[in-house]
Amino acid sequence: MTNTIPCEGLTFSLYKDAHRMMMYESYYRNDVWDEGRLVPFHPIELSPAANVLNYGQGIFEGMKAYRTVKGKIVLFRPEKNAQRFVRSAAKLAIPSISEGQYLQAVKEVVLANRAFIPDSRDGRCSLYIRPVCIGIEPLLGVRPSREYLFYIFTSPVGPYFEKVGVVRLMVMDVHRAAPHGTGEAKAACNYPVTMRPKLEAQKRGFDDVLYLDPVHNRFVEEAGAANFFALMDDGTLVTPELGSILPGVTRESVIQLAKDKFGLMVQERELDVQEVCDRAKECFLTGTGATITSVETIHWKGKAYGVNRNGFELAHRLYEELLGIQLQKKEDPYGWIMELT
Ligand SMILES: Cc1ncc(COP(=O)(O)O)c(C=O)c1O
Repeated sequence: MTNTIPCEGLTFSLYKDAHRMMMYESYYRNDVWDEGRLVPFHPIELSPAANVLNYGQGIFEGMKAYRTVKGKIVLFRPEKNAQRFVRSAAKLAIPSISEGQYLQAVKEVVLANRAFIPDSRDGRCSLYIRPVCIGIEPLLGVRPSREYLFYIFTSPVGPYFEKVGVVRLMVMDVHRAAPHGTGEAKAACNYPVTMRPKLEAQKRGFDDVLYLDPVHNRFVEEAGAANFFALMDDGTLVTPELGSILPGVTRESVIQLAKDKFGLMVQERELDVQEVCDRAKECFLTGTGATITSVETIHWKGKAYGVNRNGFELAHRLYEELLGIQLQKKEDPYGWIMELT
């Protein structure tokens, strides 16, 4: 593989040489988005009164570009992220960026940074793509901004969790999102509430928090940045229904693969955490960052439940299928891959 950076040593963090990379930016002023442009990665100057700094009017996305076994640079279902970005914008009263502008900008910024796309062949490394849109107008009263910045930066990354492939989760008395709130949007405001619980969980030897619904404090929602699945003892694969959770692109893809490739019955429904602890043979998380990560233990009401009676088998098989498509090792019957080169 020529003209690329090594996968070795990459973690899920901002690349040390990000300043050498390109980013995309487009401004919204006087009721229109400008045509947008590629510029060197650079700090953004904002008024201390900018909406996003005071009231948090900001959304983002997370995608990956892969360098595949065929030597191509590809994106995975980018139109899904474009659609979610448009929906997140609407939820936060941000003027819509068209799906077309979003996709064009993503393609341009990935190709401009192609020298930084690591060799993805073993599935551990990729180029993470972070589209963001923020309200930048200086203001004092609480209202939507009239000026916005849409930008995209990228960073070569390695695995999301420190311990690749397996995590231990802790249930806490903290809720991430309320019904009819912003949980289903990829809004920046959904994440600060997860920071203290995650630190607390890590202090106690866990990797992440498993959030429950705020009404009954009983039904599983999702982890801090990944969706949740449980393979039950009757062989059905269950995942929490959509509502206040993020409708993950990986979640949707895994549901399809589980049905088509493994003939599994998949249910999207309320999933009681006690039912998971008592009846799950196997649990895993899905996400662009997390890919498919097995859950070893769930800590709930003072007790650690092992939820890996299946030896992580389904997660491994789904991971192979998903990654096989993403890296062009396997056929792509769904048209999920967009080749950029
Ligand atoms: C809260 C949350 N849930 C789930 C996911 C998984 O979504 P996707 O599969 O689209 O990456 C993410 C992020 O990526 C997330 O931030």
